[in-house]
Formats: sequence, C-alpha cells, structure tokens
Amino acid sequence: MDIRESYSLKKRNTFGMDVSCACYVEYGSVEELVEFFSSGRQHGLPLPFLHIGGGSNILFTGDFPGTVFHSGIRFISEIRPCGTTAHDADGPGSAAVLVEVGAGTLWDDFCAWCAERGLWGPENLSGIPGETGAAAVQNIGAYGVEFKDVVREVRCFDAVTCSIKTFRQQECKYGYRDSIFKQSAKGRYIVTSVVFGLSTEGGPRLEYGHVKSAVENALSESSQETLTPSLVRSVILGIRDSKLPDPGKTGSAGSFFKNPVVPKIFYEKVEHYAKSKYGQDYEVPHFDAGSGFVKIPAAWLIDQCGWKGYREGNVGVYEKQPLVLVNLTGKALPGEIVALEKKIAASVLNLFGIGLEPEVEHI
Ligand code: EPU
Repeated sequence: MDIRESYSLKKRNTFGMDVSCACYVEYGSVEELVEFFSSGRQHGLPLPFLHIGGGSNILFTGDFPGTVFHSGIRFISEIRPCGTTAHDADGPGSAAVLVEVGAGTLWDDFCAWCAERGLWGPENLSGIPGETGAAAVQNIGAYGVEFKDVVREVRCFDAVTCSIKTFRQQECKYGYRDSIFKQSAKGRYIVTSVVFGLSTEGGPRLEYGHVKSAVENALSESSQETLTPSLVRSVILGIRDSKLPDPGKTGSAGSFFKNPVVPKIFYEKVEHYAKSKYGQDYEVPHFDAGSGFVKIPAAWLIDQCGWKGYREGNVGVYEKQPLVLVNLTGKALPGEIVALEKKIAASVLNLFGIGLEPEVEHI
C-alpha cells in the first residue's frame, strides 16, 4: 500500500490539470484492499473518498480535499482456455475464451493482448484511454461496440461489508455511458477485476460510420486473406488518430459532452433548421434511440454553432472533433475549461433548444 500526503494529480488526469489531493492511496492487490478496510485504516484519512482510474474522464475543478484511491491491480489471465468449452449455461453471448483482467490494467493493453492472440471482442474499443476498472463503471463505447457487449462479470470489493461481490453482466444495468456503479451502487463498490467473454470464431462488427469501408481497404492493401482482430484494431487506431488528439501530447478527456437523446419533435426542429440552411437533400446525422427518441451527435450540434478550432487563453475546441475540449498549452486552469463548457452548452441551447450534458465527471 502506497500512501502519500499532498499528492499532485497533474499526471493522474489526462486533462493535465495541475491540482493536488490531500491524500493518495495506491493498492496492489485485492488482499491489500481487504486488509486496509477491515482493519479500519481508512478512518484516519481525509474525506471525501474518490476512486480514479486513468483520470481520462475527469475534470478536477480544484484541489481535492479528500483521499484519492487508485488500483495497482494489473494482470491479464485466461481463466477458460480457447476450445475447452464452446458453450455454457449463460446462453446467448457465451464465448469460448474467458479472460480476467485486473482493474488497474490499461484498457488498451487488454485490447492489444486480445488482438495479438486473435481473440474477437474489444477490437473496436482499441485506443480508448483509461483503465479496465473505470471502463466497467463508465460502459465505454466506440465504433458500434460498448464495454457491456464483451463483459461477463465485474468483481468488486464491497467497502460496506469488506467482502468480495461479483456482478453478472445483467446486474450491472449498463446504459449509454452508465451503470449501477454510477447510480445506486456508487461509492460502495471498488472494481477489482473484470471477466470478459471472447471468441476466436467471432466476427468483426463494422456497421458504424465508414468503419466497414476502412476495414475493407485495409484488407485489400494487406497480404492477409481474412479479417483478423489485429487488422480491425489497427484500422480503429488509425481512425482515432485522425479524429482525436494524441493523449500523450494534448490534454483532454475525450468527448466532453454526451450525445443528447431527445424526443423526436426536437430532432424534427433540428432537421428543419438544417434543410433550410443546406437544402432539402441534407441529412442530419442521427440514430433512432427507440420509444420516440432520437440520438443526435453533440459534435454536429456544436459544429453548427461554429466552435470547431476555437481558442481562448489556454483552452480550446479540438479542430477535428468539436466534442473534445483541449488543454492547448498544458497550463489550463479548471475554470477556463468550465467557462468554455458553459459557453458551448449555452450556444447549443440557444440555437436548437437542446441542453448538453457533460460526459466528463466534474470533481
Ligand atoms: N460530426 C460533425 N462534425 C465533426 C465531427 C463529427 O458534425 O467535426 C458529426 C458527424 O456527422 C459524425 C457524427 O458527428 O458522423 C458522429 O461523430 P463521431 O463518429 O466522431 O462520434 P461521436 O458521436 O462524436 C462518439 C463517442 C466517442 C467515440 C465515437 C466513435 C460519445 C459522447 N462519444 O462520438 O467516444 O469515440 O462515438 O464511436 O458518445 C469518448 O467517449 O471520450 C469518445 C471519444
């Protein structure tokens, strides 16, 4: 157990906010976590408690007065090898390979591990920053696949009973960037590991945007005859590279806002606006969200308000994807990001009557 006082969080949040916490605790195993809480050592630590992953979906709005916990549980291990059982009692979604991954493992290390072994599952989620435990909380998603599609079980430490609890996929109540761990179970459970259902025989999921054509091009340019998880992964990494800032160079937290899901009547107003502006043939990007609701890309709405490439002081709007707010100079203050967030949301509300909600958690 590594416990520090007055710890800088600058390298622990991908926005690169220069803030600190009163106390920082990093543990390396489930046993350490259980021992720490059951011996009552948490009682002497400053409150509130916050558990972070890679800090890639967080905006620290100032110094944190409490204790930040971080998992150092890093491992990837096959718990049911390929080919031993092709079917199990879990019914649909059963997979030939079960893999357990420690919560502190970098998400993309897991994606790379799968691709190297020819295992289908998380390839479309390649390149997403952050750690596996946070991915389970946030239900990360990209290019037509969400975390919920590959997870089988989430194993947690229950800070109330000091015991281990396993949540099956259905019990996690996954929704769009949402789960039970952000709702009723918030603050009680610490994810320690995740079990994934993978397959050597699955196939690619290529329905999102132009993923299919990009993958077909890559296949025809390669010497391969059939698609592999590794090829899909490299195409996805290429798409991300061309649209999103390099986390190693520019501070950001990925998509800053959620894509709003609105009643159809709101979408029709947006459509009317776009057709009068760009002509009757213009198609507003949108997805049917069921029950009379439509999901509209926040990037499109923000783009219409002219924010792409906007700069102000140390912060700005990424020029290739306006959903991403960036720390341009590396010296941005939290207040600058929040002020920009408010201006963008106000302009979208003003033009379309649609309120944007942040995807990034404000602490
Ligand atoms: N668009 C514009 N202008 C732009 C960029 C996009 O109008 O400059 C419109 C286009 O019509 C495009 C649509 O927005 O078709 C959607 O864009 P994109 O495919 O980039 O996806 P997104 O909805 O903006 C979501 C996730 C991303 C994820 C991508 C790809 C959210 C909030 N964001 O973005 O996730 O990578 O899909 O699947 O759901 C993240 O969560 O941090 C993140 C980056």
